[in-house]
Amino acid sequence: MCGWESPDEIAQCVVVAKYWLDTIRPWIEFGLSLAGVGTLIAFGIFVWLFKNCRRDIDHLQTKADELREITRQSIEAKDEAETKARLLERNLAFAIESRAPADEHLRGCRDEITSLSRKVALVRTASQGDAAEFWSTSPGLRMDDYVRRLGDSIPVCLFANQKGGVGKTTLSANLAACYAARGERVLAIDLDYQGSLTSLMLAQSRQRPTEFPSAVDLLHRDELPELWSGSAIVEGKAHHKLDYVSCWYSFEKLERNMEYSWVLADSKDDIRYRLARAILSEHVQNTYERVIIDAPPRMTAGFLNGLCASNYLFVPTVVDHVSAIAVGTFAKQVRRLQPINPILKLAGIVGTMTSVDYLPTAAAPAADSAETNVRNAMNSNENFFIRDAVMRRTQKVAYSTEEGIAYLQEPQTRPMFEALADEVARRAPLKGR
Ligand SMILES: Nc1ncnc2c1ncn2[C@@H]1O[C@H](COP(=O)(O)OP(=O)(O)OP(=O)(O)O)[C@@H](O)[C@H]1O
Ligand SMILES: [Mg+2]
Repeated sequence: MCGWESPDEIAQCVVVAKYWLDTIRPWIEFGLSLAGVGTLIAFGIFVWLFKNCRRDIDHLQTKADELREITRQSIEAKDEAETKARLLERNLAFAIESRAPADEHLRGCRDEITSLSRKVALVRTASQGDAAEFWSTSPGLRMDDYVRRLGDSIPVCLFANQKGGVGKTTLSANLAACYAARGERVLAIDLDYQGSLTSLMLAQSRQRPTEFPSAVDLLHRDELPELWSGSAIVEGKAHHKLDYVSCWYSFEKLERNMEYSWVLADSKDDIRYRLARAILSEHVQNTYERVIIDAPPRMTAGFLNGLCASNYLFVPTVVDHVSAIAVGTFAKQVRRLQPINPILKLAGIVGTMTSVDYLPTAAAPAADSAETNVRNAMNSNENFFIRDAVMRRTQKVAYSTEEGIAYLQEPQTRPMFEALADEVARRAPLKGR
Protein backbone atom coordinates (compact mmCIF):
# COMPACT_ATOMS: atom_id res chain seq x y z
CA MET A 1 0.00 0.00 0.00
CA CYS A 2 1.30 3.42 -0.69
CA GLY A 3 0.00 6.78 0.37
CA TRP A 4 0.69 10.42 -0.18
CA GLU A 5 0.61 11.53 3.57
CA SER A 6 4.27 11.12 4.34
CA PRO A 7 7.49 11.31 2.44
CA ASP A 8 8.09 7.68 3.01
CA GLU A 9 4.88 6.79 1.66
CA ILE A 10 5.56 8.98 -1.36
CA ALA A 11 9.05 7.45 -1.70
CA GLN A 12 7.53 4.10 -1.44
CA CYS A 13 5.08 5.00 -4.10
CA VAL A 14 7.85 6.26 -6.34
CA VAL A 15 9.68 3.01 -5.85
CA VAL A 16 6.58 1.09 -6.71
CA ALA A 17 5.91 3.31 -9.63
CA LYS A 18 9.45 2.93 -10.78
CA TYR A 19 9.18 -0.79 -10.36
CA TRP A 20 6.08 -0.82 -12.49
CA LEU A 21 7.51 1.50 -15.03
CA ASP A 22 10.52 -0.74 -15.36
CA THR A 23 8.26 -3.69 -15.58
CA ILE A 24 6.08 -2.26 -18.34
CA ARG A 25 8.77 -0.33 -20.18
CA PRO A 26 9.79 -3.17 -22.48
CA TRP A 27 6.15 -3.60 -23.23
CA ILE A 28 5.72 0.07 -23.97
CA GLU A 29 8.84 0.05 -26.12
CA PHE A 30 7.58 -3.07 -27.82
CA GLY A 31 4.22 -1.36 -28.27
CA LEU A 32 5.86 1.75 -29.69
CA SER A 33 7.97 -0.34 -32.04
CA LEU A 34 4.83 -2.15 -33.12
CA ALA A 35 3.12 1.20 -33.62
CA GLY A 36 6.06 2.38 -35.76
CA VAL A 37 6.01 -0.72 -37.92
CA GLY A 38 2.21 -0.45 -38.16
CA THR A 39 2.53 3.15 -39.14
CA LEU A 40 5.05 2.24 -41.83
CA ILE A 41 2.88 -0.54 -43.11
CA ALA A 42 -0.14 1.76 -43.00
CA PHE A 43 1.86 4.40 -44.86
CA GLY A 44 2.95 1.79 -47.45
CA ILE A 45 -0.61 0.68 -47.85
CA PHE A 46 -1.66 4.26 -48.08
CA VAL A 47 0.94 4.95 -50.81
CA TRP A 48 -0.08 1.82 -52.65
CA LEU A 49 -3.73 2.72 -52.35
CA PHE A 50 -2.99 6.27 -53.40
CA LYS A 51 -1.18 5.08 -56.51
CA ASN A 52 -4.00 2.74 -57.38
CA CYS A 53 -6.54 5.45 -56.81
CA ARG A 54 -4.54 7.81 -58.94
CA ARG A 55 -4.52 5.31 -61.80
CA ASP A 56 -8.24 4.77 -61.36
CA ILE A 57 -8.79 8.47 -61.22
CA ASP A 58 -6.76 8.97 -64.42
CA HIS A 59 -8.69 6.13 -66.03
CA LEU A 60 -11.93 7.60 -64.85
CA GLN A 61 -10.81 11.00 -66.05
CA THR A 62 -10.14 9.58 -69.53
CA LYS A 63 -13.50 7.85 -69.47
CA ALA A 64 -15.13 11.07 -68.37
CA ASP A 65 -13.44 12.91 -71.25
CA GLU A 66 -14.61 10.24 -73.64
CA LEU A 67 -18.08 10.46 -72.21
CA ARG A 68 -17.98 14.21 -72.53
CA GLU A 69 -16.94 13.86 -76.21
CA ILE A 70 -19.64 11.29 -76.81
CA THR A 71 -22.15 13.58 -75.14
CA ARG A 72 -21.01 16.49 -77.31
CA GLN A 73 -21.30 14.40 -80.43
CA SER A 74 -24.70 13.14 -79.30
CA ILE A 75 -25.86 16.70 -78.81
CA GLU A 76 -24.59 17.62 -82.26
CA ALA A 77 -26.26 14.56 -83.77
CA LYS A 78 -29.44 15.40 -81.95
CA ASP A 79 -29.32 18.99 -83.27
CA GLU A 80 -28.69 17.70 -86.75
CA ALA A 81 -31.49 15.17 -86.43
CA GLU A 82 -33.80 17.92 -85.23
CA THR A 83 -32.87 20.10 -88.21
CA LYS A 84 -33.49 17.18 -90.54
CA ALA A 85 -36.75 16.41 -88.84
CA ARG A 86 -37.85 20.03 -89.29
CA LEU A 87 -36.84 19.86 -92.96
CA LEU A 88 -38.69 16.58 -93.37
CA GLU A 89 -41.71 18.10 -91.71
CA ARG A 90 -41.57 21.02 -94.13
CA ASN A 91 -41.11 18.65 -97.08
CA LEU A 92 -43.95 16.52 -95.87
CA ALA A 93 -46.18 19.55 -95.65
CA PHE A 94 -45.06 20.57 -99.12
CA ALA A 95 -45.64 17.03 -100.42
CA ILE A 96 -49.10 17.02 -98.93
CA GLU A 97 -49.77 20.40 -100.52
CA SER A 98 -48.40 19.25 -103.89
CA ARG A 99 -50.28 16.01 -103.92
CA ALA A 100 -53.32 17.41 -105.67
CA PRO A 101 -51.38 18.78 -108.66
CA ALA A 102 -49.27 15.60 -108.69
CA ASP A 103 -52.42 13.51 -108.79
CA GLU A 104 -53.66 15.64 -111.63
CA HIS A 105 -50.35 15.26 -113.47
CA LEU A 106 -50.57 11.51 -112.95
CA ARG A 107 -54.08 11.48 -114.37
CA GLY A 108 -52.76 13.47 -117.37
CA CYS A 109 -49.97 10.92 -117.85
CA ARG A 110 -52.47 8.09 -117.68
CA ASP A 111 -54.66 9.80 -120.29
CA GLU A 112 -51.62 10.36 -122.47
CA ILE A 113 -50.67 6.69 -122.21
CA THR A 114 -54.22 5.66 -123.12
CA SER A 115 -54.21 8.00 -126.11
CA LEU A 116 -50.76 6.77 -127.22
CA SER A 117 -51.86 3.14 -126.93
CA ARG A 118 -54.89 3.98 -129.07
CA LYS A 119 -52.63 5.59 -131.65
CA VAL A 120 -50.28 2.62 -131.70
CA ALA A 121 -53.33 0.39 -132.29
CA LEU A 122 -54.38 2.74 -135.13
CA VAL A 123 -50.93 2.55 -136.72
CA ARG A 124 -50.99 -1.23 -136.43
CA THR A 125 -54.38 -1.45 -138.12
CA ALA A 126 -53.35 1.09 -140.75
CA SER A 127 -50.19 -0.82 -141.62
CA GLN A 128 -52.19 -3.91 -142.50
CA GLY A 129 -54.06 -4.05 -145.79
CA ASP A 130 -53.42 -2.16 -149.03
CA ALA A 131 -53.18 1.56 -149.70
CA ALA A 132 -56.87 1.98 -150.53
CA GLU A 133 -57.87 0.26 -147.31
CA PHE A 134 -55.40 2.44 -145.44
CA TRP A 135 -56.99 5.61 -146.81
CA SER A 136 -60.60 4.49 -146.88
CA THR A 137 -61.66 5.16 -143.29
CA SER A 138 -64.71 7.37 -142.96
CA PRO A 139 -64.24 11.10 -143.31
CA GLY A 140 -63.21 13.15 -140.30
CA LEU A 141 -63.64 16.85 -139.88
CA ARG A 142 -63.88 18.55 -143.29
CA MET A 143 -65.45 21.73 -144.64
CA ASP A 144 -69.18 22.24 -144.22
CA ASP A 145 -71.26 21.12 -147.12
CA TYR A 146 -68.34 19.39 -148.84
CA VAL A 147 -70.47 17.01 -150.89
CA ARG A 148 -72.88 19.69 -152.09
CA ARG A 149 -70.09 22.12 -152.90
CA LEU A 150 -68.12 19.55 -154.87
CA GLY A 151 -71.30 18.55 -156.70
CA ASP A 152 -71.83 22.22 -157.67
CA SER A 153 -68.18 22.84 -158.50
CA ILE A 154 -66.55 23.71 -161.81
CA PRO A 155 -65.08 20.55 -163.44
CA VAL A 156 -62.04 19.38 -161.53
CA CYS A 157 -60.41 16.64 -163.61
CA LEU A 158 -57.97 14.32 -161.95
CA PHE A 159 -55.58 12.45 -164.26
CA ALA A 160 -54.46 9.45 -162.29
CA ASN A 161 -53.21 5.91 -162.55
CA GLN A 162 -51.11 3.99 -160.07
CA LYS A 163 -49.01 2.79 -162.98
CA GLY A 164 -46.14 5.13 -163.76
CA GLY A 165 -45.06 6.54 -167.09
CA VAL A 166 -48.41 6.12 -168.84
CA GLY A 167 -48.72 9.77 -169.89
CA LYS A 168 -50.66 11.38 -167.01
CA THR A 169 -48.47 14.47 -166.92
CA THR A 170 -48.21 14.83 -170.69
CA LEU A 171 -51.96 14.55 -171.06
CA SER A 172 -52.66 16.97 -168.16
CA ALA A 173 -50.31 19.63 -169.49
CA ASN A 174 -51.48 19.41 -173.11
CA LEU A 175 -55.17 19.32 -172.26
CA ALA A 176 -54.73 22.28 -169.89
CA ALA A 177 -53.00 24.19 -172.71
CA CYS A 178 -55.66 23.13 -175.20
CA TYR A 179 -58.55 24.33 -173.00
CA ALA A 180 -56.70 27.57 -172.28
CA ALA A 181 -56.18 28.09 -176.01
CA ARG A 182 -59.91 27.62 -176.45
CA GLY A 183 -60.41 30.52 -174.07
CA GLU A 184 -61.22 28.70 -170.83
CA ARG A 185 -59.64 29.97 -167.60
CA VAL A 186 -57.68 26.90 -166.53
CA LEU A 187 -55.88 26.09 -163.32
CA ALA A 188 -53.41 23.18 -163.49
CA ILE A 189 -52.21 21.64 -160.25
CA ASP A 190 -49.10 19.49 -159.94
CA LEU A 191 -49.36 16.91 -157.14
CA ASP A 192 -46.20 14.97 -157.97
CA TYR A 193 -43.16 16.09 -156.02
CA GLN A 194 -40.99 15.12 -159.01
CA GLY A 195 -42.41 18.28 -160.53
CA SER A 196 -42.89 16.99 -164.09
CA LEU A 197 -45.92 19.18 -164.79
CA THR A 198 -44.21 22.15 -163.16
CA SER A 199 -41.08 21.59 -165.28
CA LEU A 200 -43.21 21.63 -168.42
CA MET A 201 -44.90 24.85 -167.36
CA LEU A 202 -41.55 26.43 -166.55
CA ALA A 203 -40.08 25.33 -169.87
CA GLN A 204 -43.11 26.74 -171.61
CA SER A 205 -42.57 30.11 -169.95
CA ARG A 206 -38.86 29.91 -170.82
CA GLN A 207 -37.80 29.61 -167.22
CA ARG A 208 -35.05 27.25 -166.23
CA PRO A 209 -36.62 24.34 -164.36
CA THR A 210 -34.07 24.05 -161.55
CA GLU A 211 -34.92 24.93 -157.97
CA PHE A 212 -38.36 26.38 -157.42
CA PRO A 213 -40.76 26.66 -154.51
CA SER A 214 -43.36 23.96 -154.03
CA ALA A 215 -46.42 26.18 -153.93
CA VAL A 216 -48.77 23.23 -153.65
CA ASP A 217 -47.47 22.86 -150.08
CA LEU A 218 -49.33 26.06 -149.21
CA LEU A 219 -52.64 24.54 -150.28
CA HIS A 220 -52.09 21.63 -147.89
CA ARG A 221 -51.08 23.52 -144.76
CA ASP A 222 -53.18 23.46 -141.57
CA GLU A 223 -54.49 26.91 -142.31
CA LEU A 224 -55.27 27.87 -145.88
CA PRO A 225 -53.34 31.12 -146.45
CA GLU A 226 -54.33 34.04 -148.60
CA LEU A 227 -53.25 32.34 -151.79
CA TRP A 228 -54.65 34.51 -154.37
CA SER A 229 -52.13 37.28 -154.35
CA GLY A 230 -49.85 35.25 -156.60
CA SER A 231 -47.89 33.38 -153.91
CA ALA A 232 -49.34 29.92 -154.60
CA ILE A 233 -50.62 30.29 -158.12
CA VAL A 234 -48.33 31.20 -161.00
CA GLU A 235 -50.52 33.32 -163.20
CA GLY A 236 -50.43 33.41 -166.98
CA LYS A 237 -46.78 32.51 -167.49
CA ALA A 238 -47.22 29.42 -169.72
CA HIS A 239 -50.31 30.82 -171.44
CA HIS A 240 -52.30 33.90 -170.49
CA LYS A 241 -55.38 31.80 -169.67
CA LEU A 242 -53.43 29.07 -167.91
CA ASP A 243 -52.34 29.36 -164.27
CA TYR A 244 -50.63 26.63 -162.34
CA VAL A 245 -49.60 25.50 -158.88
CA SER A 246 -46.06 24.14 -158.71
CA CYS A 247 -44.88 21.08 -156.85
CA TRP A 248 -41.38 20.14 -155.78
CA TYR A 249 -39.54 17.80 -153.42
CA SER A 250 -40.56 19.54 -150.19
CA PHE A 251 -44.06 18.24 -150.89
CA GLU A 252 -42.88 14.69 -150.24
CA LYS A 253 -42.01 15.62 -146.67
CA LEU A 254 -45.31 17.41 -146.20
CA GLU A 255 -47.19 14.41 -147.59
CA ARG A 256 -45.50 12.10 -145.09
CA ASN A 257 -46.18 14.56 -142.34
CA MET A 258 -49.87 14.71 -143.25
CA GLU A 259 -50.04 10.94 -143.52
CA TYR A 260 -48.65 10.41 -140.02
CA SER A 261 -50.76 13.09 -138.43
CA TRP A 262 -53.81 11.56 -140.10
CA VAL A 263 -53.02 8.03 -138.90
CA LEU A 264 -52.29 9.31 -135.41
CA ALA A 265 -55.39 11.52 -135.46
CA ASP A 266 -53.12 14.42 -134.53
CA SER A 267 -54.57 17.11 -136.74
CA LYS A 268 -57.83 18.78 -135.95
CA ASP A 269 -59.13 18.35 -139.49
CA ASP A 270 -59.10 15.44 -141.94
CA ILE A 271 -55.95 16.08 -143.98
CA ARG A 272 -57.43 14.32 -147.03
CA TYR A 273 -59.64 17.36 -147.70
CA ARG A 274 -57.10 20.17 -147.58
CA LEU A 275 -56.76 20.63 -151.34
CA ALA A 276 -60.56 20.44 -151.67
CA ARG A 277 -60.74 23.34 -149.20
CA ALA A 278 -58.63 25.42 -151.65
CA ILE A 279 -60.32 24.28 -154.86
CA LEU A 280 -63.81 24.78 -153.46
CA SER A 281 -62.87 28.25 -152.23
CA GLU A 282 -64.74 31.16 -153.75
CA HIS A 283 -61.59 32.43 -155.41
CA VAL A 284 -60.92 29.29 -157.46
CA GLN A 285 -64.58 28.69 -158.20
CA ASN A 286 -65.06 32.28 -159.40
CA THR A 287 -61.75 32.70 -161.23
CA TYR A 288 -61.47 29.45 -163.18
CA GLU A 289 -63.69 27.36 -165.43
CA ARG A 290 -61.71 24.16 -165.21
CA VAL A 291 -59.14 22.63 -162.92
CA ILE A 292 -56.76 19.91 -164.11
CA ILE A 293 -54.83 17.89 -161.56
CA ASP A 294 -51.81 15.77 -162.40
CA ALA A 295 -51.68 12.96 -159.83
CA PRO A 296 -48.55 11.12 -158.71
CA PRO A 297 -48.20 7.40 -159.51
CA ARG A 298 -48.54 6.45 -155.84
CA MET A 299 -51.31 6.54 -153.27
CA THR A 300 -49.85 9.19 -151.00
CA ALA A 301 -51.52 11.97 -149.02
CA GLY A 302 -51.15 14.23 -152.08
CA PHE A 303 -52.91 11.69 -154.26
CA LEU A 304 -55.74 11.41 -151.73
CA ASN A 305 -56.06 15.17 -151.66
CA GLY A 306 -56.38 15.16 -155.45
CA LEU A 307 -58.99 12.44 -155.21
CA CYS A 308 -61.05 14.30 -152.61
CA ALA A 309 -60.83 17.61 -154.49
CA SER A 310 -62.00 16.29 -157.88
CA ASN A 311 -65.35 15.52 -159.40
CA TYR A 312 -64.04 13.71 -162.52
CA LEU A 313 -61.38 11.06 -162.80
CA PHE A 314 -59.60 10.16 -166.04
CA VAL A 315 -57.25 7.19 -166.18
CA PRO A 316 -54.57 7.37 -168.86
CA THR A 317 -53.27 3.93 -169.73
CA VAL A 318 -51.01 2.26 -172.22
CA VAL A 319 -53.21 -0.09 -174.28
CA ASP A 320 -51.83 -3.53 -173.55
CA HIS A 321 -52.93 -6.49 -171.44
CA VAL A 322 -50.64 -5.86 -168.50
CA SER A 323 -51.81 -2.25 -168.30
CA ALA A 324 -55.43 -3.43 -168.59
CA ILE A 325 -54.94 -5.42 -165.38
CA ALA A 326 -53.36 -2.41 -163.68
CA VAL A 327 -56.32 -0.22 -164.69
CA GLY A 328 -58.74 -2.78 -163.19
CA THR A 329 -56.79 -2.90 -159.95
CA PHE A 330 -56.70 0.89 -159.80
CA ALA A 331 -60.46 1.10 -160.46
CA LYS A 332 -61.07 -1.29 -157.56
CA GLN A 333 -59.08 0.97 -155.29
CA VAL A 334 -61.03 4.00 -156.49
CA ARG A 335 -64.28 2.15 -155.81
CA ARG A 336 -63.14 1.36 -152.31
CA LEU A 337 -62.37 5.03 -151.76
CA GLN A 338 -65.77 6.16 -153.01
CA PRO A 339 -67.20 6.78 -149.50
CA ILE A 340 -64.67 9.54 -148.91
CA ASN A 341 -65.68 11.30 -152.16
CA PRO A 342 -69.08 10.12 -153.37
CA ILE A 343 -69.12 12.83 -156.07
CA LEU A 344 -66.03 11.62 -157.93
CA LYS A 345 -66.98 9.94 -161.18
CA LEU A 346 -64.65 7.68 -163.10
CA ALA A 347 -65.33 9.54 -166.33
CA GLY A 348 -62.96 7.89 -168.78
CA ILE A 349 -60.02 5.68 -169.57
CA VAL A 350 -57.66 7.32 -172.06
CA GLY A 351 -55.50 5.18 -174.32
CA THR A 352 -51.92 6.48 -174.58
CA MET A 353 -48.70 5.65 -176.38
CA THR A 354 -50.54 4.16 -179.34
CA SER A 355 -48.77 3.71 -182.66
CA VAL A 356 -51.38 5.72 -184.60
CA ASP A 357 -53.83 8.58 -184.02
CA TYR A 358 -56.71 6.23 -183.37
CA LEU A 359 -57.20 3.07 -181.37
CA PRO A 360 -55.55 0.42 -183.55
CA THR A 361 -57.44 -2.82 -184.18
CA ALA A 362 -54.58 -4.77 -182.64
CA ALA A 363 -55.07 -2.84 -179.40
CA ALA A 364 -58.82 -3.41 -179.26
CA PRO A 365 -58.64 -6.64 -177.18
CA ALA A 366 -56.49 -4.90 -174.57
CA ALA A 367 -58.91 -1.96 -174.53
CA ASP A 368 -61.83 -4.40 -174.12
CA SER A 369 -60.00 -6.12 -171.32
CA ALA A 370 -59.40 -2.79 -169.55
CA GLU A 371 -63.07 -1.90 -170.07
CA THR A 372 -64.26 -5.21 -168.59
CA ASN A 373 -61.95 -4.91 -165.61
CA VAL A 374 -63.12 -1.39 -164.86
CA ARG A 375 -66.80 -2.30 -165.34
CA ASN A 376 -66.39 -5.17 -162.90
CA ALA A 377 -64.58 -3.00 -160.41
CA MET A 378 -67.15 -0.21 -160.62
CA ASN A 379 -70.09 -2.59 -160.94
CA SER A 380 -71.33 -0.58 -163.90
CA ASN A 381 -71.97 -1.05 -167.60
CA GLU A 382 -70.89 2.41 -168.71
CA ASN A 383 -68.49 2.94 -171.61
CA PHE A 384 -65.44 3.98 -169.69
CA PHE A 385 -62.86 3.49 -172.43
CA ILE A 386 -62.58 6.47 -174.76
CA ARG A 387 -62.48 4.90 -178.20
CA ASP A 388 -62.60 8.01 -180.40
CA ALA A 389 -59.40 9.63 -179.28
CA VAL A 390 -56.01 8.48 -178.08
CA MET A 391 -52.64 10.00 -177.31
CA ARG A 392 -50.30 8.65 -179.93
CA ARG A 393 -46.67 7.98 -179.14
CA THR A 394 -44.72 10.54 -181.09
CA GLN A 395 -41.45 12.32 -180.68
CA LYS A 396 -43.27 15.63 -181.02
CA VAL A 397 -45.12 14.96 -177.78
CA ALA A 398 -42.31 13.41 -175.80
CA TYR A 399 -41.74 16.36 -173.55
CA SER A 400 -38.50 17.97 -172.93
CA THR A 401 -37.91 20.30 -170.04
CA GLU A 402 -36.19 22.59 -172.51
CA GLU A 403 -39.04 22.87 -174.97
CA GLY A 404 -42.35 23.15 -173.16
CA ILE A 405 -45.85 21.90 -173.89
CA ALA A 406 -46.28 20.08 -177.23
CA TYR A 407 -49.76 21.51 -177.87
CA LEU A 408 -48.34 25.03 -177.76
CA GLN A 409 -44.99 24.22 -179.38
CA GLU A 410 -45.89 21.68 -182.08
CA PRO A 411 -48.97 22.63 -184.13
CA GLN A 412 -49.07 19.13 -185.67
CA THR A 413 -50.01 17.65 -182.30
CA ARG A 414 -53.04 19.91 -181.89
CA PRO A 415 -55.68 17.82 -183.72
CA MET A 416 -54.83 14.86 -181.50
CA PHE A 417 -55.18 16.87 -178.31
CA GLU A 418 -58.26 18.69 -179.62
CA ALA A 419 -59.95 15.30 -180.12
CA LEU A 420 -58.95 14.22 -176.64
CA ALA A 421 -60.07 17.55 -175.17
CA ASP A 422 -63.47 17.15 -176.84
CA GLU A 423 -63.91 13.69 -175.33
CA VAL A 424 -62.83 14.80 -171.90
CA ALA A 425 -65.04 17.92 -172.06
CA ARG A 426 -68.02 15.81 -173.14
CA ARG A 427 -67.56 13.64 -170.07
CA ALA A 428 -66.60 16.53 -167.79
CA PRO A 429 -68.57 19.52 -169.12
CA LEU A 430 -68.09 23.10 -168.06
CA LYS A 431 -70.46 24.33 -165.37
CA GLY A 432 -73.84 25.28 -166.75
CA ARG A 433 -73.36 23.43 -170.07
N1 LIG B 1 -47.52 10.68 -176.64
C1 LIG B 1 -46.25 10.51 -176.27
N2 LIG B 1 -45.30 10.28 -177.19
C2 LIG B 1 -44.05 10.10 -176.84
N3 LIG B 1 -43.61 10.16 -175.60
C3 LIG B 1 -44.49 10.40 -174.64
C4 LIG B 1 -45.87 10.59 -174.92
N4 LIG B 1 -46.51 10.82 -173.78
C5 LIG B 1 -45.58 10.78 -172.82
N5 LIG B 1 -44.38 10.52 -173.32
C6 LIG B 1 -43.12 10.40 -172.58
O1 LIG B 1 -43.25 9.31 -171.68
C7 LIG B 1 -42.66 9.61 -170.47
C8 LIG B 1 -43.72 9.47 -169.38
O2 LIG B 1 -44.74 10.38 -169.61
P1 LIG B 1 -45.45 11.14 -168.44
O3 LIG B 1 -44.44 11.76 -167.58
O4 LIG B 1 -46.47 12.02 -169.04
O5 LIG B 1 -46.10 9.92 -167.73
P2 LIG B 1 -46.69 9.90 -166.24
O6 LIG B 1 -47.75 8.89 -166.23
O7 LIG B 1 -47.04 11.25 -165.83
O8 LIG B 1 -45.42 9.40 -165.44
P3 LIG B 1 -45.32 9.35 -163.85
O9 LIG B 1 -46.09 8.17 -163.45
O10 LIG B 1 -43.85 9.22 -163.61
O11 LIG B 1 -45.90 10.61 -163.34
C9 LIG B 1 -42.13 11.02 -170.58
O12 LIG B 1 -40.79 10.96 -170.89
C10 LIG B 1 -42.89 11.60 -171.73
O13 LIG B 1 -42.14 12.57 -172.43
MG1 LIG C 1 -46.43 12.32 -164.08
